[in-house]
Amino acid sequence: VGAYFDHNATTPLDPRVRAAMLPWLGERFGNASSAHRWGQAAREAVEGARERVAALVGAASPLEVLFTASGTEANNAVVADALARGGHFVVSALEHPSVLGPLEPSRAPRAQVARIAPDRRGRIDAGRMIEALGDDTVLAALMLANNEIGTLQPVAEVAAACRARGIPLLCDAVQAVGKVAVDVQELGVDYLTVGAHKFHGPLGAAALWIRPGAPFTPFLVGGSQERRRRASTANVPALVGFGVACELAGAELTERAGRLAALRDRFEAALAEASPGVVVHGAGAPRLPHTSSVAFPGTVNQELMIRLDLEGWAVSIGSACASGHVEPSPVLRAMGVPGDLAIGTLRISFGTTNDASEVDAFVPVLARAARELAAAPAPR
Ligand SMILES: Cc1ncc(COP(=O)(O)O)c(C=O)c1O
Repeated sequence: VGAYFDHNATTPLDPRVRAAMLPWLGERFGNASSAHRWGQAAREAVEGARERVAALVGAASPLEVLFTASGTEANNAVVADALARGGHFVVSALEHPSVLGPLEPSRAPRAQVARIAPDRRGRIDAGRMIEALGDDTVLAALMLANNEIGTLQPVAEVAAACRARGIPLLCDAVQAVGKVAVDVQELGVDYLTVGAHKFHGPLGAAALWIRPGAPFTPFLVGGSQERRRRASTANVPALVGFGVACELAGAELTERAGRLAALRDRFEAALAEASPGVVVHGAGAPRLPHTSSVAFPGTVNQELMIRLDLEGWAVSIGSACASGHVEPSPVLRAMGVPGDLAIGTLRISFGTTNDASEVDAFVPVLARAARELAAAPAPR
């Protein structure tokens, strides 16, 4: 028994993706920048992958896609470029640490950062974000889907206002791509980040889509790879896998989303019966099909997670444990979730390899663990 319900952390490699990568971990190899036939073959494979990534996000040309090694790198690069241009940022409080981290006062003492809080359901109000834009704003950032709660954000509305004022908008779509339809033209953003390992592609492959004309200063310099925008020898096997993962996600998007939403709904309905006090964060808000953020009053999520892990179930806590103290997740805090409820919150994220029997087996285990831990004296 047991199952993996932590697909927002990372996903297993699709066997079809692995099959496409294997030759490039074996007899096929080459530096994509080399002029000889080994290099040319590698280059062709990389450019094929770039076309597939571009197609999945609706880019006008594959040349708009910059490959990076991670979503973190792509987000950091955009923020670093903006930091070099000036001081005022408007970001949602839901952003991933790879967007917020470089803007922390200790790292960017001169940056003025307006952090826009979400509502209680985990959704940013577009009007509030637009109001915060100023003439000196160098970058706005609004993710497409939050990694902890799964809520979808009003990116197109904010992007339209940003465009009208000439303010570049970064959209972190790492959790959204491969789960919901993503189109950079419809969204109207200037930068969009994608990570292969969140949708059954390999680790070490990610992309930054950059609207032509949007500011971008290279982060890694030296070689002429990626049209001089990111020096480093191309990670050919990972990029090949990334391309195939994009192609499969595009072809199977509707079917996958339907299956995942059915698992999520089955889980939440059964849990509400088995564990009547449970609170589902973001319920009723537009959200990703596969993410469920649930709170058990009176429990400490870390204890719950460890107990479930011992029984073979992988889930996640949306909070960091610093020096022995359990800290509520900054995202839940920004949503105004009371501290004790935030401390009792678990993130369950389903994947294409999960099935209904796993969900049915999991719910009673989870409900019992939550009940027993809530009854136990708190170890504070
Ligand atoms: C919303 C979001 N952005 C960015 C990242 C960072 O991606 P990577 O793990 O590829 O650095 C993650 C991954 O956890 C994420 O969930």
